[in-house]
Amino acid sequence: MRNLILVGPMGAGKSTIGRLLAKELRLHFKDSDKEIEQRTGADIPWIFDVEGEQGFREREQSMIAELCGLSGVVIATGGGVVLKAENRRELHAGGRVIYLHASVEQQLERTSRDRNRPLLRNAEPEKVLSALMEIRDPLYREIADVIVETDERPPRMVVQEIIDRI
Ligand code: S3P
Repeated sequence: MRNLILVGPMGAGKSTIGRLLAKELRLHFKDSDKEIEQRTGADIPWIFDVEGEQGFREREQSMIAELCGLSGVVIATGGGVVLKAENRRELHAGGRVIYLHASVEQQLERTSRDRNRPLLRNAEPEKVLSALMEIRDPLYREIADVIVETDERPPRMVVQEIIDRI
C-alpha cells in the first residue's frame, strides 16, 4: 500500500489527524518533526537556534527522503516541507498527498498556546501565518491528491472524510 502523506500549515492538525488516521487504518504513523528531533537528540527550537532555519531544512529534506521510501505508513510533515522542490517531488512520488487546509484564524487559534514553533516567536504571528500561507498554499495544492477542510471540524470528522476520499 502507498503511504498517506499529510501536508498543510502549522495548526492544520497534521499530527493529531495523522495519528488518528493511522489508528483507524491500522497503519504505522511517522511524524517528520518528531523523527528529526529523535535523530538529532534536540528539539526543533534548539535546531533553529543553533543551526538556523537552513540547518533544519537540510535535516528535514533527508528525513522526508527516508520516510517517503517506506510503504503503507501515515506520514505527518512540517508546514514548510513544500518549500523545496526536491521535497515536493519526493512527497508526490512517495504516496497519496492529503492537504489539510486551515484558515489563518484557525491556525492562530490552534497554535496560540504552543511554544515549540520558532517561526511564531514573533510579536505578530497572524501576519507571519498569512505571509506563509500566501507562499505555501499554491505549493500544497501543486502536490495534493486530496484537499480536506479542517476549519471548525473535529479531528474524527476530518479522518472520516480522508478515509472516504482516498
Ligand atoms: C514549520 C512548521 C513546523 C516545524 C518547524 C517549521 C514551518 O511543523 O516543522 O517549526 O515552516 O511551517 P508544524 O507544521 O507541524 O507545526
